[in-house]
Amino acid sequence: MYELKKNLRFKLLISTFLLSLLLAILMYIFIDSHNVYITRLQQAYGYLALLYWYFALIVSPIKAISPENNKYVKRLLFARRAIGVSAFYFAVLHATIAFFGQLEGFSGISYYPRYFSVSLLFGLIGLSFLLVMTVTSFDKIVDFLTFKKWKLLHRLGYFAAILVYLHVWMVGTYLGRTWLQIIILALLLMLFVLESWRLSNYFENRYKKTRVFTFLIFILTLALLCGLTLAIPSIVERYHGDHENLEVH
Ligand code: HEM
Repeated sequence: MYELKKNLRFKLLISTFLLSLLLAILMYIFIDSHNVYITRLQQAYGYLALLYWYFALIVSPIKAISPENNKYVKRLLFARRAIGVSAFYFAVLHATIAFFGQLEGFSGISYYPRYFSVSLLFGLIGLSFLLVMTVTSFDKIVDFLTFKKWKLLHRLGYFAAILVYLHVWMVGTYLGRTWLQIIILALLLMLFVLESWRLSNYFENRYKKTRVFTFLIFILTLALLCGLTLAIPSIVERYHGDHENLEVH
């Protein structure tokens, strides 16, 4: 038990649970309307799921560009699985409250507009990926799968992240706010710079390419990631953009 308490992963999971509880209690105290309470809580859990997921994703590129044996990076790497599990935990809370609290559960499904259902389907697929990644995050399962296959499976997390990005963009009400868009874009840009740097370093070390070639890989990857991120909002419509009076509260 003493060892468990000292364990960073355990501490992180406990803090995640306490944070979810604290948020639910504080919002309950300060928000009068039940409907608004449900909506705000669901939104807060949704954004926390994204934030934890983001941290779980950014650990690998940070490790790749850090000096070997850096003790902070080692701790971060150790904590990564608990960060991923926390992301899944918040996503489950978000989806459960949104589906049963805000959207009236299974009885409401037939009334959803098609566009809205598609977005929820993206969210559901994203959630299923998070479930697979959480279930396969235990040491015994990693050993069973072998590290190589486990890593390949976890790379699918990037695909799930794109679907959830679409889900949030399509139905998120808060995402219409410019300040939130700026924060999200800044965080994504940081992740993309690190990921592009990691990829170009990989090419340089593995294929012994010249500096110019490596720099080209960096620029192309960064341009591709930024282009995709900015293209989605201009191609995909926001549900609330056209249906302000139909907002689900
Ligand atoms: C079965 C799965 C899911 C369901 C049923 C669901 C449901 C919903 C609904 C109904 C909304 C609209 C909320 C509103 O208008 O206030 C929403 C938005 C959102 N969802 Fe999900 N979701 C699911 C999966 C996910 C996952 C996996 C994540 C993150 C990892 C996520 C993160 C978010 C975020 C951040 C928003 C934006 C909140 C806002 O700006 O209003 N969702 N979701």
